[in-house]
Amino acid sequence: MAYPYVSDREVRVLSKYFGDPMQRRVDTYVERGGYQALKKAFEMGQDAVIDEVKASGLRGRGGAGFPAGLKWSFMPKQPTKPHYLLCNADESEPGTFKDRELLRWDPHQVIEGVLIASYAIRAKQAYIYCRGEFFETTQILAKALEDAYEKGYVGKDIMGSGNDIDITVHVGGGAYICGEETGLMNSLEGRRGQPRVKPPFPAAVGAFGMPSTVNNVETLSAVPHIVTHGGQWYRQWGTEKSPGTKLFCVSGHVNKPGNYELPLGFPLMDLINDVCGGMKDGKALKAVIPGGSSVPILDAQECADCNLDYEGVQTAGSMLGCASVIVMDEDTDIVKQVRRMVQFYAHESCGQCTPCREGSAWMLQILKRIEEGRGTEEDLQTMLDMSRQMTGTTICVLSDSVGAPVVSSINKFKDEYLALIRRGERVGVA
Ligand SMILES: Cc1cc2nc3c(=O)[nH]c(=O)nc-3n(C[C@H](O)[C@H](O)[C@H](O)COP(=O)(O)O)c2cc1C
Ligand code: SF4
Repeated sequence: MAYPYVSDREVRVLSKYFGDPMQRRVDTYVERGGYQALKKAFEMGQDAVIDEVKASGLRGRGGAGFPAGLKWSFMPKQPTKPHYLLCNADESEPGTFKDRELLRWDPHQVIEGVLIASYAIRAKQAYIYCRGEFFETTQILAKALEDAYEKGYVGKDIMGSGNDIDITVHVGGGAYICGEETGLMNSLEGRRGQPRVKPPFPAAVGAFGMPSTVNNVETLSAVPHIVTHGGQWYRQWGTEKSPGTKLFCVSGHVNKPGNYELPLGFPLMDLINDVCGGMKDGKALKAVIPGGSSVPILDAQECADCNLDYEGVQTAGSMLGCASVIVMDEDTDIVKQVRRMVQFYAHESCGQCTPCREGSAWMLQILKRIEEGRGTEEDLQTMLDMSRQMTGTTICVLSDSVGAPVVSSINKFKDEYLALIRRGERVGVA
C-alpha cells in the first residue's frame, strides 16, 4: 500500500515504513532491527541513555519543544515511589495528524520508545493515552502490544535482562484538554480531564501522585533511532538548537497535503511549492498557520523567509508548535477561519479559569457578530484587550491559544475585519 504523497526531499527516519502494513507485525519489526535499541539501552544503563538523548538535542514534539533528555533527568535517580511514563497520544490540535500515523503504521517503534524512556526514568509502568476517537489506531496498537508481550519485549524480565516494564493502552474521553499533560493525568486517574496548577511539576507529583514524565508519540518514536545510532548521528539533520527530523502535517490549499518528514529548518516556501506541489489551482498564498491552530498566523510576506525550526518560526512571528502547517490561499476568509478556531477553543475550554471560560465564549460572540455584519470598530480593540487579559493568566495555555489567532489576524488582516464591519452585509454563519 503506497503512502499518499511522498517527496524525495524527505528524510524518512520515523516515517520510513508509512504505508507498509507488514511493519505492524512484531516479527517484521524485529527482522528489520526492531527491539535492538531496547537491548542496547539496557546494556548502556539509565544515565547513559539519558545522556545520549540529551546529546541528540531531541526536543519534545508535543508542541512546547522542551528537551526530552533534560526532562527525563528531572526524575528522581533513586526511586522511593513508583515512577510512571505517560505517552501522550491524545492528538487533537486542529491541523495535526502525525501521531495517529506513527501509531497506525509503526506501533512497535512507539512501544520501543516507550520502553526505553520508561527504563531511563526508572518506571516500571507506562501508559499510552490514546485519543478517544482513534478507534482503528487503538486496535492496531493494542494488537502490537499484545504481540510484544507474547514475544517477551514487554512485561517481566524483558529479553532476560531482569528489567520489568508494563504498558497499558488507555483510551481517553475524547476531549482536547486531556492532551494537556496534567489534564491527561487527571483523566487517566478517572477524574475530570482538567489541568492542574503547576508547580508541583509532574516529575515530582504526577500521575497517581507519583513522579511522572509525559512525552509525545513522535518524541518517543525518535528515541530508538537515537539509542541505536547515537546523539551525534541525529544531529546530522536540523539546526544546532533544533536538531533532527520532524513530521510536518500539511493541510489546506496545496496540491499534495499530507505528512512529510523533513529536517528541521526546512524552508516553509519549499515545503509549499516543492514538497507539496505548490498552491492548489495556482492561487496566491495569503497566510499560513505554521504550528497548529493555537499559534499566530503568518502573512505571505512573513512566510517568504521562514525556516521551519523552533527559532526560525519564532523569528518569523509565530511558533513551530507541533508543526501542523495550515496553508490558506488568497480566497480564504480569515475572519471566518479565526471564528472557527475560537469556536473550537470555546467548546474545549474546561471551564476552570474565568478568563478562558468567559473570554473564549465572549470572543466567539463578537466574532460571530462581526461576521454577520453587526460588528463595530470598537469590537476589534475589545478583542485585543480581551486577548491580553486571557494570555498568561490561566492554569494552562489553552486560553492563550484563543488570543493568538485573534491578535495576529487583527494585526495582519485588519482590512478584512473592517470590510465586514463596514459593509454589514453578511448574514448567518456556516
Ligand atoms: C490544551 C493543550 C493540549 C495539548 N494537547 C497535546 C496533545 O494532544 N498531544 C501532545 O503530545 N501534547 C499536547 N499538549 C502538550 C502537553 O501538555 C505536553 O507538553 C507534551 O505532551 C509533552 O511531551 P513532549 O515533551 O514530548 O512534547 C497539549 C498542551 C495543551 C496546553
Ligand atoms: S486555561 Fe482554559 S482549558 Fe486551561 S485550565 Fe483554564 S479553563 Fe481549563
